[in-house]
Amino acid sequence: MVGTAVVAAAGEAGTDGQRRPAVTREPDAEAALHARLDALCADGWAIWERFDGTVRERGFHPFVPADYEVVRATLLALRAPGRRFLEWGSATGIITIMADLMGFDAYGIEVDAGLVATAREVAARHGSGARFVVGSFLPTGYRWRSADGDGRTGTIARGDSGYQQLGRAPEDFDVVFGYPWGGEAPVMRDVMQRYGSPDALLLLFDADGTLQGYRGGRQPVAADALTAPA
Ligand SMILES: C[S@@+](CC[C@H](N)C(=O)[O-])C[C@H]1O[C@@H](n2cnc3c(N)ncnc32)[C@H](O)[C@@H]1O
Repeated sequence: MVGTAVVAAAGEAGTDGQRRPAVTREPDAEAALHARLDALCADGWAIWERFDGTVRERGFHPFVPADYEVVRATLLALRAPGRRFLEWGSATGIITIMADLMGFDAYGIEVDAGLVATAREVAARHGSGARFVVGSFLPTGYRWRSADGDGRTGTIARGDSGYQQLGRAPEDFDVVFGYPWGGEAPVMRDVMQRYGSPDALLLLFDADGTLQGYRGGRQPVAADALTAPA
């Protein structure tokens, strides 16, 4: 895979947050990886400032970035060669590209075609093989019904589902990341419960700056189990 700096065969934490045997990583490769992640995040924040000052200046757009450093720390703890990562609503692609550079087999689905074009440019600039498609992360035929019967999905847009273009099904992913707006986390958890692998880890970024983990979209995984050193 392009850009992979992971040299050990074993992971640091399972997708369920369980500890795994300690891994040995090449210090030079780790330093090079961190330099690339620093450059990627700096690029991401610069793109966001331009987006905020142009697109969002003119009207509402649902793209607001997660805290890249918080997500970075968690993905570093979860990485393992070949582990498959999907970002729901990948925007400018920074988090998906981060995952690719760490050694995940990384994909992003984003409904805004302009943002997908940006993500592909960023991936090329940073030597990443992360793959992006224009589409919805909601599977074909999915319908949300809250406990009180409300079917509204907030800022989660309708559109053709992106999985067929990816050549992957929702249950093919080991780690899925999303940044829901207020009230949208139950929708994401419902999608994961109904379509994802029961062993997969759903990571949801919260506007309070924390990441919540849910195995199979259901059982919460303690935050310290996601990032504790091996
Ligand atoms: C809050 S932003 C999060 C961006 C990025 N994941 C991050 O954390 O930095 C949500 C993104 O989801 C996209 N989006 C909204 N509905 C979607 C859908 N059904 N499928 C895919 N992307 C969607 C928006 O265009 C926006 O870029």
